[in-house]
Amino acid sequence: MIVCVCKSVSDRTIRSSIAEGVDSFDELQFELGVASCCGKCEESVRDVMLQSGVCASRCGVDHHQTQAVPLTFYELKAA
Ligand code: FES
Repeated sequence: MIVCVCKSVSDRTIRSSIAEGVDSFDELQFELGVASCCGKCEESVRDVMLQSGVCASRCGVDHHQTQAVPLTFYELKAA
């Protein structure tokens, strides 16, 4: 599912980047462009990071959380 509408980045792409070693929100912004336009996807990107177990020390999320957090996706509204 698309997480960042502005840059057309899916949760799968974010997970793939994390699997390849990207381990901070800033790096995801740099590599994929997420949350660099309107910024509405930041919470969803951080949710994907949390679910992927990215370290809290670099992204600001608690990686000790054991329960899955439901993803919040930005909804594209028709003009
Ligand atoms: S939805 Fe990601 S920057 Fe706009």
